[in-house]
Amino acid sequence: MVPPVLSSVPFVDLRPQHDPLQPQLEDAFRQLLNRGDFVLGEALTQFEQDFAAACGVQHGVGVACGTDGLALGLQACGLGEGTSVLLPANTFVATLIGVMRTGATPILVDCDPDTGLIDLDAAADCLRRDTRAIVAVHLYGQMVSPTALFAFADAHNLIIFEDAAQAHLAEREGYRAGSLGKAAAFSFYPSKNLGCLGDGGMVVTPDQDVAKKLRSYATTGPPANISTPSWAPIPASTPFKRQSWPSSYPT
Ligand SMILES: Cc1ncc(COP(=O)(O)O)c(C=O)c1O
Repeated sequence: MVPPVLSSVPFVDLRPQHDPLQPQLEDAFRQLLNRGDFVLGEALTQFEQDFAAACGVQHGVGVACGTDGLALGLQACGLGEGTSVLLPANTFVATLIGVMRTGATPILVDCDPDTGLIDLDAAADCLRRDTRAIVAVHLYGQMVSPTALFAFADAHNLIIFEDAAQAHLAEREGYRAGSLGKAAAFSFYPSKNLGCLGDGGMVVTPDQDVAKKLRSYATTGPPANISTPSWAPIPASTPFKRQSWPSSYPT
């Protein structure tokens, strides 16, 4: 039986966050009702632009939740059957589900006992010939060291994909979460650092092609100018441009 004192403590209480925002929220809902754009629409477009800019990258694509952000984002980066992906063993199960939904083989890597983050020395021992990417999970607001991650990815020619579901606007070594690699997935689940009123997620990316593919996956079907199957393995030599943290992102 649950002791009475525990059953009276709510698991999560979002009212203290929402109460002071009540007038703005009601105003935003009224505008939304007037416009009637309940899926995608003006408010999402504005938020995609603002959130991507806050992360220090050019593109943001809203998706249904963080798990979809991982699966669709990895797929848009070319991961899938015939590739394998490194990810930490210590993470929320959605990271693993995201990799598995692409058809890529997940490789679970041990973690640093002090931080709980992926251990890059252990990751080096897990590499396979078909390994094309590393998913860096920034847990509890702590980022994986960007400089260590860049060195690791460069040494092994890997795409960096961030699971930043727990690290909205986190910073380390002059970089912001979401700006380290080819793309990053965020969750806006209500209890997250930046929660929405329901399920929600976003993939941010500096890469226009990834953004274009994502937009098509998120809206049920590729436009005619996307011809490569989403699961086609990317050549190991595919270059990508890493974004450094700009001095002028909005605060
Ligand atoms: C590290 C991590 N990755 C992915 C997710 C999945 O996000 P969502 O619940 O929005 O699908 C979560 C959140 O639960 C998470 O904590």
